[in-house]
Amino acid sequence: MKKIAILGSGYGSNFEAISRYLKDVDITCISDNKDAYILERAKYLEIPSLVLSLDEMEKYFDENKFDLVVLAGFMRIIPESLLKKMGRCINIHPSLLPSFKGKYAIKQAFLAGVKVTGITIHEVTLELDSGRIIAQYPVMIDDSMHYDELEEAIHRVEHIIYPQVVEKLLNNEPINFSRDNCSGCQGNCGGCQG
Ligand code: GRF
Repeated sequence: MKKIAILGSGYGSNFEAISRYLKDVDITCISDNKDAYILERAKYLEIPSLVLSLDEMEKYFDENKFDLVVLAGFMRIIPESLLKKMGRCINIHPSLLPSFKGKYAIKQAFLAGVKVTGITIHEVTLELDSGRIIAQYPVMIDDSMHYDELEEAIHRVEHIIYPQVVEKLLNNEPINFSRDNCSGCQGNCGGCQG
């Protein structure tokens, strides 16, 4: 059975989407924040969870190996020594990288007035939000869209795409999102029929 670790510091909605989607994958939830809601989700999903500091993670990932380490709202910069121990590590970012790196990416895009933003799943490297792009998916911003609606659309697309990407990476399958396999963006990507 494939083994993944999902790391998050906060709300954990991507962790829940991935955990509900994957079948027959051994999942461990890890947080650096003992008060994070992701830990509540782990409890009700009956997924083992750990609270570890960055230092503790060094030892943990030295002793425990995973097919994939998945960042989902993990708010720390991962030092080189830890990244080496983790092995392959991916992240999701709520913009079309390389635009709007860093914090508040959805707000940055909204305030910049772009007409298309989206989500990016990328390899984690030492440079923030800069590793090789694995998958992207667009979200259209029309002129009447309120900021809250954009946030909701971004998260909806994250929850559809991230689980599929994790599964495809674990199975070594090609990743190619087209209008044919969109299943729930509700028309926001601009390309599909919703
Ligand atoms: C997501 O928007 C993700 O793109 C970003 O952090 C947020 C995490 O949300 N990296 P959640 O904790 O998965 O709900």
